[in-house]
Amino acid sequence: MASHQSLTDKLPSDFLWGFATASFQIEGSTDVDGRGKSIWDDFSKLPGKTLDGRDGDVATDSYNRWKEDLDLLTQYGVKSYRFSIAWSRIIPLGGRNDPVNEAGIQFYSNLIDALLERGIVPFVTLYHWDLPQALYERYGGWLSREIIDDYVNYAKICFERFGDRVKYWCVLTHNEPWCISILGHGRGVFAPGRSSDRTRSPEGDSSTEPWIVGHNLILAHAYACKLYREEFKAKQGGTIGITLNGDMALPYDDSPENITAAQHALDVAIGWFADPIYLGDYPAFLKEMLGDRLPRFTPEELAVVTGSSEFYGMNTYTTNLCKAGGDDEFQGKVEYTFTRPDGTQLGTQAHCAWLQDYPEGFRQLLNYLYKRYSKPIYVTENGFAVKDEHNMPVEQALADHDRVQYFKGNTAVILAAVKEDGVDIRSYFAWSLLDNFEWADGYITRFGLTYVDYETQKRYPKDSAKFYVQWFKEHTEVE
Ligand code: NOJ
Repeated sequence: MASHQSLTDKLPSDFLWGFATASFQIEGSTDVDGRGKSIWDDFSKLPGKTLDGRDGDVATDSYNRWKEDLDLLTQYGVKSYRFSIAWSRIIPLGGRNDPVNEAGIQFYSNLIDALLERGIVPFVTLYHWDLPQALYERYGGWLSREIIDDYVNYAKICFERFGDRVKYWCVLTHNEPWCISILGHGRGVFAPGRSSDRTRSPEGDSSTEPWIVGHNLILAHAYACKLYREEFKAKQGGTIGITLNGDMALPYDDSPENITAAQHALDVAIGWFADPIYLGDYPAFLKEMLGDRLPRFTPEELAVVTGSSEFYGMNTYTTNLCKAGGDDEFQGKVEYTFTRPDGTQLGTQAHCAWLQDYPEGFRQLLNYLYKRYSKPIYVTENGFAVKDEHNMPVEQALADHDRVQYFKGNTAVILAAVKEDGVDIRSYFAWSLLDNFEWADGYITRFGLTYVDYETQKRYPKDSAKFYVQWFKEHTEVE
């Protein structure tokens, strides 16, 4: 795949490479300095919601150890750090008429100042799933259109209080809206845990709620971007967009129904959000599948939604082989497999069932997205969880061969996509700086390129971190 690359092929010096994290997954300290509760606080404590029964109260203790984390970033020599702001630290009760918490502002202010001092570009996610609990209790959170004004108010405070001193920063409105909608309000495996499945959830309607939530997420994103561009962009020189999850979907074989199935999978996983934002309407297949269960935009709303994201923010991990069939609307009525028709596996299996390593699929997806949406691509997450890493002694976990292979393959793809395919890629972030709270998996699935010993909170760079850092040193131009 990278056969045409030469040693002189390099990414430009302003290519933003680094590591990503998210507030609830690393911060801990959930009840200090005036932070309000988020929907994950209590959800993660309910029996059966996380694999190991553990919650986010401590995580990697990064609320206290953030300087140590930044030392690690400096040691790694990154260009940028992607982190998220916890809405309920900024506005504990979340709403536009609720008080702002100065201690929360101070925490992220200090973090941003320290990044700037170290010459690291802040790449900030405003919403990475930790909705203020009070907004869920008040009106059902993302289920209500009320949230749009509350979110825009929260975004405004962030633009005012954090954007004032940066010369350049990247803002992501939401992280992975598909997960918020489907996993939180359809399958019920993520907070707030709503689902039609009554063995899982006392309330929820999986046939309507995910699509309503998705719609409100798109609108909140669009109005926050509008505000940024009208009132802040000229002063701050930032760039703003959304980041979507989405993996390459390939037909299981060359039968026409499986070729169509792969496109349907992409339409639901990616097009649901990307088509209105970049192309101006929901995909035809989604409208057909859902009928009037899919909310529609008014012409005024559509004018705000269309073109709202300045780049394509891309979180991707794997590739799925697609077979037509089944009735799972959340996948476009498509079945996913990693097993090819000849019985072989697509790639190396990760600890979590949904992930295999397949760099060729990553390259195909980059090309597909660039061609379809014609926007610069910021790869905001990519990563691998080594099988059984949580059961290994530290020394063994540090020799994370499968993760090294994953990043070898995917960094080569980045270079090939830029140099050979002409895809405009501006960033690449490894998920994650640290092992951390992996949502419903608790601490069992480890995605870190740095190992965290949860007994001592000590951090140890894994072989993958060494490979990754060295690769970018060798493959980016010096300023
Ligand atoms: C996507 C999410 O943004 C992140 O929070 C999660 O930990 C990784 N994928 C790995 O599952």
